[in-house]
Amino acid sequence: MNDEPLLLSAALDSFDALWSPRIVTRVNDYDVRIAKVEGEHVWHVHENTDEFFLVLDGELRISLREPGGERTVRLPRGAVFTVPRGTEHKPSAPSGAAMLMFEPTGTLTVGDRHDEVPDHVDATTGHSLST
Ligand code: NI
Repeated sequence: MNDEPLLLSAALDSFDALWSPRIVTRVNDYDVRIAKVEGEHVWHVHENTDEFFLVLDGELRISLREPGGERTVRLPRGAVFTVPRGTEHKPSAPSGAAMLMFEPTGTLTVGDRHDEVPDHVDATTGHSLST
């Protein structure tokens, strides 16, 4: 964890990998992670935790499988959205996006259950910013 102020813009400039979150700080037992994304992630579910998203740039879409059916929310820059625990979801960003996530340390990007993970998706609990 960094003990100096951190500019998110500089943090985003420090890496290029897509769908591969960097941990910018921790709050109690939670990671604050940022990620650059483009294209589609993978359908997955976090059984025991909600997942918070803040869109920093571009437009993020999150498809959700809910009891009433499937829908996709569109999140422009500045939008926040929380995926409830136990809800299957698949983020995507056809034109690219940058986002910040807030979730318990150790949360796997592809959740507890998921479809086959494509090569472009990093199944990780988050990387430190320096690597
Ligand atoms: Ni998720």
